[in-house]
Amino acid sequence: MKGKDFLTISDISERELMDILKLSIKLKKNKVLEKMKGKTLAMLFAKTSTRTRVSFEVAMAQLGGHAIYLNWNETNFVKGDIKDEAKVLGLYCDAIMGRVFKHNQILMIAEGSDKPVINGMDDLHHPCQALADFLTILENKKTFKGLKIGWVGDGTNVCHSLMQSAELVGLEMVVASPKDYEPKIRTNARIVQNPLEAAKDADVLVTDSWVSIGFEKEKEKRIKIFRPYQLNSQLLNIAKKDCIVLHCLPAHRGYEITSEVFDSPQSKIFQESENRLHTEKALLLHLISDVL
Ligand code: CP
Repeated sequence: MKGKDFLTISDISERELMDILKLSIKLKKNKVLEKMKGKTLAMLFAKTSTRTRVSFEVAMAQLGGHAIYLNWNETNFVKGDIKDEAKVLGLYCDAIMGRVFKHNQILMIAEGSDKPVINGMDDLHHPCQALADFLTILENKKTFKGLKIGWVGDGTNVCHSLMQSAELVGLEMVVASPKDYEPKIRTNARIVQNPLEAAKDADVLVTDSWVSIGFEKEKEKRIKIFRPYQLNSQLLNIAKKDCIVLHCLPAHRGYEITSEVFDSPQSKIFQESENRLHTEKALLLHLISDVL
């Protein structure tokens, strides 16, 4: 029988999320756990990446397995049937991680492959980023109970995965986005236009790039629209005193976040980046070795 896919946060239960986070904390203390000897992960990239590529490759190495990097444009995914190509990858490898342009493409890969498929980011979801963000929140706040996440800016794929995670663990989330740039999915998160509403008494403040990959032609227009949504000290000052700041990176200082906030003691952005490695190791063990 085919193992579980991880295409969106909706593919896991609250219990599974908590188990993955607990295992991540253990793996952070004991870096090497050779449970993946002889196992191979295919990593398929249609878009650029620093964190996703390197953290998954290092994760497989530290687990005693192996990862293969595949540039989408150098494979026959560009001209063949996506499902057939994915089926073949699944015959050689124990799991596939794919970063693609459209959510439908990761769905087709999962349909074709008999092995677990992980969404390494598409236009609608970035569930691996949400795992790392929630580990960072747990490490800093010790609990999810009673917390408020405030999102300011574009309702991106990262925002969607955080909204689904927040709903899963019963955490309040308020998303402040300009009209026409709101999230494209609905959860119990409150969607507003005023960034002050998202920031007020927030325990966690998060933002993302104003010009995501694929929107470069709209850069000037977007900068004007998003300017009031900059994560700056004015917003941080109305959040709780111990509010932490997250950003999935890459960041654009002076645009979606000021240097002052990015470099402040409240910024946990690099801790969040490091946590990609630990949460992905836990996720791989969950999907491939079923250790949870
Ligand atoms: N946050 C994130 O997914 O980083 P990369 O695009 O560098 O993989």
